[in-house]
Amino acid sequence: KRVVVFISGGGSNMLALAAACEAQDFPAEVVAVISDKASAGGLAKAAERGIATFAFERRDYASKAEHEAAILATLETLSPDIVCLAGYMRLLSGEFIQRLEGRIINIHPSLLPLFPGLHTHQRAIDAGMRIAGCTVHFVTEGMDEGPILAQAAVPVVTGDTADSLAARVLTVEHKLYPLALKLMAEGKVRMEDGHAVREQQGT
Ligand code: GRF
Repeated sequence: KRVVVFISGGGSNMLALAAACEAQDFPAEVVAVISDKASAGGLAKAAERGIATFAFERRDYASKAEHEAAILATLETLSPDIVCLAGYMRLLSGEFIQRLEGRIINIHPSLLPLFPGLHTHQRAIDAGMRIAGCTVHFVTEGMDEGPILAQAAVPVVTGDTADSLAARVLTVEHKLYPLALKLMAEGKVRMEDGHAVREQQGT
């Protein structure tokens, strides 16, 4: 399966996906990385691995619609089977998502539906949570609210700061995302009338 990954920053999740895809028997390959920031550190890391990269600076486009149209035009030439948002910090329009619905997934650093949006780790700490985690979900029009494919829980330890918790969650993201991508690439999970349908899990 052909995968395109969207990033806005360092791209550690993109690298985890690329590394997983490099294993022979992995049913997917990252064919390109797209960023809305030419300065995204992940672009250089992707290029080092021989992955095609494309940057679409928002300020180079007169409107959101034109920005997305330029991205979509490149996406068409890449013919992705799956699009993975990975630290992509820009909301996609309903029209954009409709074009990819069921084939576009995202990783969010909280146990959705808890803590959609930003500053998830500080919010979890402030709420006195003992468990935090991350979620891979199908992308739908609303932010961080599509059907859930996979989740992983991470303990919150006494004295945790947003940074220490973020680091602990990020390590788990790097395991969860490749696992979720494998399920998608093998057709073991799909989106069906607004729900994530998974084949019998485990045994
Ligand atoms: C991190 O906060 C991660 O939890 C979230 O996006 C941010 C950047 O991730 N998914 P990355 O290192 O760019 O993949």
